[in-house]
Amino acid sequence: MKFFLDTALITEIKDALDLGMLDGVTTNPSLVAKTGKSFREVIDEILAIVPGPVSLEVTATDCAGMLREGRELRKLGKNVVVKIPLIKEGLKATKVLASEGTPVNVTLCFSATQALLAAKAGAAYISPFVGRLDDRGHEGMAIVSEIRKIYDNYAFPTEILVASVRHPLHVRDAGIMGADVATIPWKILEDMIKHPLTDLGLEQFLKDWQKVPGGMSAVLATQSKQEAVRAR
Ligand code: G3P
Repeated sequence: MKFFLDTALITEIKDALDLGMLDGVTTNPSLVAKTGKSFREVIDEILAIVPGPVSLEVTATDCAGMLREGRELRKLGKNVVVKIPLIKEGLKATKVLASEGTPVNVTLCFSATQALLAAKAGAAYISPFVGRLDDRGHEGMAIVSEIRKIYDNYAFPTEILVASVRHPLHVRDAGIMGADVATIPWKILEDMIKHPLTDLGLEQFLKDWQKVPGGMSAVLATQSKQEAVRAR
């Protein structure tokens, strides 16, 4: 399962890279607006450090405009994935861009039938927005399991990229359901690391360690002695 970071903030991307958990990045106009920087500046910063797929969203809403923007965005990097909204014009643009070899992330997906259309258009990724469905009283993750079943029935290669992730349970369920990717806000990735029993357990181990004669320093001393011998 791949982890993308859902952000346009370079500090968060660096933190996730540091953690070794960054397979890619997804952005959207709202996330770019939060940075206070120009779109170009944000793109350049991200593409300079992220080796994996980076989703950059078009802002046009007609097919010709999406194609124009998508082709320009794609020129910026081999790892650029063009993000296109799931509307009629978007499906047309997806079909064309996909036939040109450009990977498309079809976004703003809220139903399994929409996801089926995106797969037939040749999308590389489909982004069901699970959190926003939950917000409206629907079970967001239910469509992920439906999409998984439909894609598997017909061996569609489109990857399911769970988006609008609000808490670690969304990531857990995405994994259980066999989603290919979860795009995760940095705060949630951090929350996934933490568990109070881990902290309590570590505290106890460290306390008990004080009772061990010599402690770790004996091991480290032996190791540096061996290194010194090897260096001779
Ligand atoms: O990248 C799109 C998606 O993840 C947005 O999430 O929290 O604005 O619904 P959210």
